[in-house]
Amino acid sequence: MRSESKKESINQQTVNMYRTNTCGELRLSDVNKKVTLAGWVQKIRKMGGMTFIDLRDRYGITQLSFNQEINAVLCEQANKLGREWVIQIVGTVAERSSKNANIPTGDIEIIASELNVLNASKTPPFTIETDTDGGDDIRMKYRYLDLRRSVVRQNLELRHKMAFETRRYLDERGFLEVETPVLVASTPEGARDFIVPSRMNRGEFYALPQSPQTLKQLLMVSGFDRYFQIVKCFRDEDLRADRQPEFTQIDCEMSFVQQEDILTLFEGLTRHLFKSIKGIELPEFPRISYADAMKYYGSDKPDIRFEMQFIELKDLTGGHGFGVFDSAEYVGAICAEGCATYTRKQLDELTDFVKRPQIGAKGLVYVRYNADGTLKSSVDKFYSETDLKQWVDRCKAKPGDLLLVLSGETEKTQKQLGELRLEMGSRLSLRDKFNYKCLWVIDFPLLEKDEELGRYFAKHHPFTSPKPEDIPALDTDPGAVRANAYDIVINGVEVGGGSIRIHDSELQQKMFATLGFTPERAQEQFGFLMNAFKYGAPPHGGIAFGLDRLVSLFAGLDSIRDCIAFPKNNAGRDVMLDAPSRVDQEQLDELGIALAKKEQ
Ligand code: AMO
Repeated sequence: MRSESKKESINQQTVNMYRTNTCGELRLSDVNKKVTLAGWVQKIRKMGGMTFIDLRDRYGITQLSFNQEINAVLCEQANKLGREWVIQIVGTVAERSSKNANIPTGDIEIIASELNVLNASKTPPFTIETDTDGGDDIRMKYRYLDLRRSVVRQNLELRHKMAFETRRYLDERGFLEVETPVLVASTPEGARDFIVPSRMNRGEFYALPQSPQTLKQLLMVSGFDRYFQIVKCFRDEDLRADRQPEFTQIDCEMSFVQQEDILTLFEGLTRHLFKSIKGIELPEFPRISYADAMKYYGSDKPDIRFEMQFIELKDLTGGHGFGVFDSAEYVGAICAEGCATYTRKQLDELTDFVKRPQIGAKGLVYVRYNADGTLKSSVDKFYSETDLKQWVDRCKAKPGDLLLVLSGETEKTQKQLGELRLEMGSRLSLRDKFNYKCLWVIDFPLLEKDEELGRYFAKHHPFTSPKPEDIPALDTDPGAVRANAYDIVINGVEVGGGSIRIHDSELQQKMFATLGFTPERAQEQFGFLMNAFKYGAPPHGGIAFGLDRLVSLFAGLDSIRDCIAFPKNNAGRDVMLDAPSRVDQEQLDELGIALAKKEQ
């Protein structure tokens, strides 16, 4: 209903000399109306004495028809048009003899009586249709043309709606949208910063924010109580399908709240978006601790569209002379239902899969629980059928199922088994894009040790509060300290994350010390925050959703690029703008930047 009234208003809003209607709105009920349309020529078809044109605008496609016998001059004019010319057409709406059920305007056409060319167009480098002939690179270079395709445009329309509904939901709950600066100071934690030289402060640099984290905390000190911002963030990290160097967060912070308040409010936001945009009513989101997520799924963002949880077998495997299992810290299995019939070739493929360098397993053990109840494994030399029966029983496997077993160091093996689980989920078609399963992962560890550097890093960020009962362990066993931190995960994608913050300047100082900052460096980098905390910081916490990831999940996209108007490619380049690019020496001189000789 809402979109209908919106369409009407497009022509009511302006004294519109260009068009009376859009290309998406005319129906059988409009037959005999005289209309004026404007748009782009998508397709021209000549059939005998007739010429048909598909005229496109943002709202749809309407067929125009020209009859040589009725108006030869006009028909000639139409025949001379090219793809993507911008035209205006005056004509009468008529019922079509051969209807097109695939488009909403497919029952009608416009019998043209006047044609004005508003602008000619070069022939575009690819066809601007749903099934285009343009490859990725060329479409990126001419992104403004790609955006004319309805499949791409629809993703941006969806993005708009999601941002709009987010604002509505948060506004109704008293959140204020506050803009924070884009030129900020560089911080050492997290990903690499993009830095911006300052002309007025030679030799000094701004950084683009990786997130407005510290600024939103300062807004809590200011008493803003409930803040949000739909905001661009910048991170100079390696790109993947779900990462862009600049991306958008729905960034939120609240005062006088505990973890439970935040989880409830933002589970509500997620539910509101699913309901208002997709008409999907989601059940309450399950919660899982980080420790359990690793134990059962080998991932801190488990895909719970399917079960296939890990089962530990270590205690059943020892003492049979199989050195690989005997020396392993961890032996774990997944049970692939109905896969006992997998061929040698399929099993070899799975072995190759886990041995890929990105996954890094040394090998894969399998047990076929055949339909006739017999057991056959790749380690029959070491284990009898009776031994294997214990394994399949532990896994609650049925005849016809296949066990896949990995072993090694616990954390590494769990991650490898997690990858294998996802691969099996995909092979068994258990990962339907439009079957949405959300969950919270909670109780993240506060710190993560970099074994190479021998120091701890904040798992989330240095402002995250440890669980009060774990604070004493900061001195004795920092790795075991859990945080009041949480992630929201949908279909195996980390869509958002947040935490309750430290609001006590002493605890914050202690945290910086644990992270290896000297008091001087902590003061230099984060003095503004620690000082602010001395002026009555309220207890506070927050969360940020990745808007791009959320939109791409709603749209069922494989990459977040497809819901960003002008994205970067995998090398971080904007091939349309040709950015990044070199700048004049003069500009560099002004900034006091000298390039190393070999880079000039
Ligand atoms: P975090 O770093 O977890 O938290 O980021 C929050 C969410 O932002 C999205 N995201 C990205 N999306 C696309 N491209 C990227 N390169 C990218 N990096 C992150 C993810 C992620 O869950 N300040 C904290 C939030 C807080 O504590 O309130 C923060 O930025 O969906």
